[in-house]
Amino acid sequence: MGESLADQLPGQAAQATRISPFTLFFREFLRHPVMIGSVIPSSKRTIETMLAPVDWANTRLFVEYGPGVGTFCATILERLPPDATLLAIDTNPVFIDYLRGKFADTRFVAAHGSAADVNEIIAAHGFEKADYVLSGLPFSTLPAGVGAAIVEATHRVLRPGGSFLVYQYSAYVLRLLEPLFDSIDRDLEWWNIPPCGLFWAHKQVEEAA
Ligand SMILES: C[S@@+](CC[C@H](N)C(=O)[O-])C[C@H]1O[C@@H](n2cnc3c(N)ncnc32)[C@H](O)[C@@H]1O
Repeated sequence: MGESLADQLPGQAAQATRISPFTLFFREFLRHPVMIGSVIPSSKRTIETMLAPVDWANTRLFVEYGPGVGTFCATILERLPPDATLLAIDTNPVFIDYLRGKFADTRFVAAHGSAADVNEIIAAHGFEKADYVLSGLPFSTLPAGVGAAIVEATHRVLRPGGSFLVYQYSAYVLRLLEPLFDSIDRDLEWWNIPPCGLFWAHKQVEEAA
């Protein structure tokens, strides 16, 4: 975690900032098909529908897993309050370096690491809990046990009343969400290639003793 692409793969970071986001995304898909799980980024309609229920005024920390080329990041930053943070976590250092070059916004933090370590990653940036976590991770193709570990870590990192927002090409993720989250809303976005399942998993507000 933390080491920049420029240190690991000299030349690729600079190259990544010169090519289009679509080309970069497709090139990384060819390199890591299982970890990326999609040939092209999400559609504008998917972004709008997924983010529609977010209570922006009461958001201090918004975490995104698997931002890729930042398809959701610009819209999140447009809506995020001035004192809030968007913390984007990706295992692919090419995407992390690309995002650091793309978004100069002081509310934006790109962290190289795994979503399974979200609790440690937000603590390293001075946060205790997240209000929302958004995920574009391909849960059905992740290595065995990784998806369950990520969902468990996400439930822990969310404050009571917080929500986990998931877009997926299969409903596989439901079997991981249902045992932990108190309620789950779902929808299907046809205006996406391929059509995309949308899930909003809610952690209950703690009842007063
Ligand atoms: C389908 S792409 C999502 C792209 C983008 N969010 C979009 O809307 O177009 C999945 C992303 O998840 C990242 N990824 C895969 N496993 C991960 C993990 N365990 N933690 C964080 N990111 C991961 C991949 O590197 C890739 O950027």
